[in-house]
Amino acid sequence: MSTYVTTPIYYVNAMPHLGHAYTTIVTDTYSRFRRLCGDDVRFQTGTDEHGEKIAEAAAKDGISPREYVDKISARFQATWPTLSVAQDYTIRTTDKDHVKTVQDILQQVYDNGDIYFSEYSGHYCQGCERFLTEKELVDGKCPDHQVAPKQISEQNYFFRMSKYQDWLVEHIKANPEYITPERYRNEVLSFLSEPLEDLCISRPTSRLTWGIPLPFDDKFVTYVWFDALINYLTGIGYPNGPDFEKYWSVAEHVIAKDILKPHAIYWPTMIKAMGLPPYKRLHVHGYWNVDETKMSKSIGNVIRPHDLIDAYGVDTVRYFVLREMSFGLDSSFSTEAIIARQNSDLANDLGNLFSRSLTMIVKYADGKVPAPDQDQISESDRELMLALEKMLVTYEQQMQQFNFHKALQAVWEVIGLLNRYIVTNAPWELAKDETQAKRLNNVLYSLAEALRIITLVLRPIMPDAAEKMAVALGLGEALQKATLPEAGKWGGSEVGTAISSPKQLFPRMEKKKEQPKQAQPEQSKKGKKKKEQQITEDGLVTFDQFGKFELRVAEITAADTIPKADRLLKLTVLAPEKRTIVAGIAEHYSPEELIGKQVIIVANLKPAKLRGVLSQGMVLAAKEKLEDGTEKLVLSTVAGSIAPGSRVA
Ligand code: MSP
Repeated sequence: MSTYVTTPIYYVNAMPHLGHAYTTIVTDTYSRFRRLCGDDVRFQTGTDEHGEKIAEAAAKDGISPREYVDKISARFQATWPTLSVAQDYTIRTTDKDHVKTVQDILQQVYDNGDIYFSEYSGHYCQGCERFLTEKELVDGKCPDHQVAPKQISEQNYFFRMSKYQDWLVEHIKANPEYITPERYRNEVLSFLSEPLEDLCISRPTSRLTWGIPLPFDDKFVTYVWFDALINYLTGIGYPNGPDFEKYWSVAEHVIAKDILKPHAIYWPTMIKAMGLPPYKRLHVHGYWNVDETKMSKSIGNVIRPHDLIDAYGVDTVRYFVLREMSFGLDSSFSTEAIIARQNSDLANDLGNLFSRSLTMIVKYADGKVPAPDQDQISESDRELMLALEKMLVTYEQQMQQFNFHKALQAVWEVIGLLNRYIVTNAPWELAKDETQAKRLNNVLYSLAEALRIITLVLRPIMPDAAEKMAVALGLGEALQKATLPEAGKWGGSEVGTAISSPKQLFPRMEKKKEQPKQAQPEQSKKGKKKKEQQITEDGLVTFDQFGKFELRVAEITAADTIPKADRLLKLTVLAPEKRTIVAGIAEHYSPEELIGKQVIIVANLKPAKLRGVLSQGMVLAAKEKLEDGTEKLVLSTVAGSIAPGSRVA
C-alpha cells in the first residue's frame, strides 16, 4: 500500500513554534507508523511564501521579499531534523515548478469557464488573507484576529466554488472518514447548509505584487490560498510524474482547526474543477495554549521548539505532545505537565522497566536472550502475551485514527503490567534456587520479548529512544525492516542475542517551581523556645520538634552489596542531589528490585561511616514481628510518583 501525508505549508512571516512543531511531529509519527505497517510512504511539508503578510513582514525587516522568504524558510527547514522529523520532500511556493503548475491549473480552470471576472466588495481580514462573510464576524470583528476587517471593493477574478457545493455535501456525507474528528465534519456540513459564495482568487498588482501572476491577466497575482493549496499536487509531480499516479488517490492532509475552511471547502472544490478525484482524508487537530492562555507574541508566551529540545530532549517533547493532546481538542502546555510526563511515564515506568529488565538478563543469563521452555509457561506469562496481543490491535487502530494518546495509553498499560510481572515473578528469588533455572529463563525471555515489541511500537513516536533501546536489545538491522503485524507476534526474539546493560534512557527532572512553604500552626509560635527544647511529659513531640527532621523522597539509582556485611546494602539515591546511604535491608531486598524505587529518607542525619562507607542519611522502613520470631521489613515509600527531593511533611 501507499501513503501520502502532508502538513500545512507554514507562512514564513513567523518563526516556528510549538503549534507548527506539533502538526509536523504528528505527521512524521503517522508516516513512520505507516512505514512500520509496510507502506510505501511519502511525507511532505513546506513553506507558504507569497501574499500580503509576507510582503509586509519583509518590508518591516527592510529586505526584499525574496531575501526574507529565503531566510525564514531556512529556519523552518533547520527545525525539522532537531525534532527527528524526516520528511521526504520540502516544498516552497516560490519554487519554479510550483509556480508553473499553479499557472497551468489556473489556465485550465479558466478555459473550462470556472473562473470569471467581476466586481466584489466585502469584509477583508488580512490575518486570514480572505474575505469573511457577515455571519463569520463577531461584534464586527474577525473572531480569530480580533480586528475589524477592511471594507474592500475591487474588480477581481472569481472561482465558481458554488457550482460544486452540492457535490461536496454529498461527498462528505457519503464518506464519514473524509473529515475527522467528527466535530469538524459537522462544522463543515453546517457551514455548507447555507449557500456557498464564489471564491475571489486574484489580487490586483496595484495592491500586491508578491504573488504568482495570473496567466491570463498580468495585472493580477494569484490569491495566496489558491496558490498554496496546490502545493499538495506540485510536490508529487502533478500532472505527469509517476509519484502523482502513485500517491494522489491516497493523499491525507493534517491541519489545525484554524485552516479548516480552505482545506475542507476551497480545496475539494478546486480539485473537482480540475477533474481530479478528491483527497482521501483530512485530519484536524485543536490548538495548543500555554498555561491555559492563547499562545501569542504580544503576551510573550510563545514556545519555541529549540527551547523545548534543549530543556527536555527530543524524545520527551515528541512523547509529551502526542500523549498530552487528544487529537481534535485544544490542549495546554505547561512546564509542570511536561516534567510530570518525563518523570512518571518515561523515567519511572518505561526507563526503569527497561534498565531493570536488561540488568537482570545481563546478570542472570550472561547477557544473552535465554531459551524459553514451553513446559514452564505460567499464568502470568500467558497474561502478558495476551495483553501484548490486545495492545497491538488497539495500537494499530488508534494510530490509524490519529488517536495517538489512546495508542500510547494502551502501550503504557502493558508497561505497567510488565512492572508488576517482575514483582510477581521476582527473578532475583528464582536466581537463588537452581531448581528454578528454567522458570527464570522463561521470565527473562518474556521480558526481552515484551521489550522488543514495545521498542517496535514506540519507533514512530520516539525514534531516537527506540533506536537506543533496539541497540541495547541487540536488535540491530532486523528491527529497521520489521513490519506489523508479523513483527509484533510473540516469539520474535532470537535466543542467544547479546543484550547490553542500558544507559539511562530518560533522566528524571526536578520541578522548577518551589514547593509552597507549610504554614505553622498558631500555638507553636507562642512559648516557642521552651517547647522546642523538651519533649512534653506525655511523650509527644511538638510541631517544631518534628519539623527539624528533614524527610525527603529519594529515588534509588544503584544498589550494591558491601563485602563482609551481609545485612547492609550501599544505596545510591537522588534526593534530588546524588548521595550514598547504607541501609540494613539486604535480607529483605535484592539490589535489582530496589532500582527505581522511591523511598523516604531522613536527609539531615549526621553522616556516619558504616563498614568503611559514608552514609549520608537514613532510609525509613516499617517492621513487623512475625510469629516465628523473624522480622518482615517493608520500605516506606510514596503512593504515587513524585520528583526526587520532594519534602515529606
Ligand atoms: N500557510 C497557511 C497554510 C497553507 S496550507 C496549504 C497557514 N500557515 S500557518 O503558518 O499559519 O500555519 C497554520 C498551522 O500551524 C495550523 O493549521 C497548525 O497546523 C499549526 N499551528 C499554528 N498555531 C498552532 C497552535 N497554537 N496549536 C496547534 N497548531 C497550530 O495557515
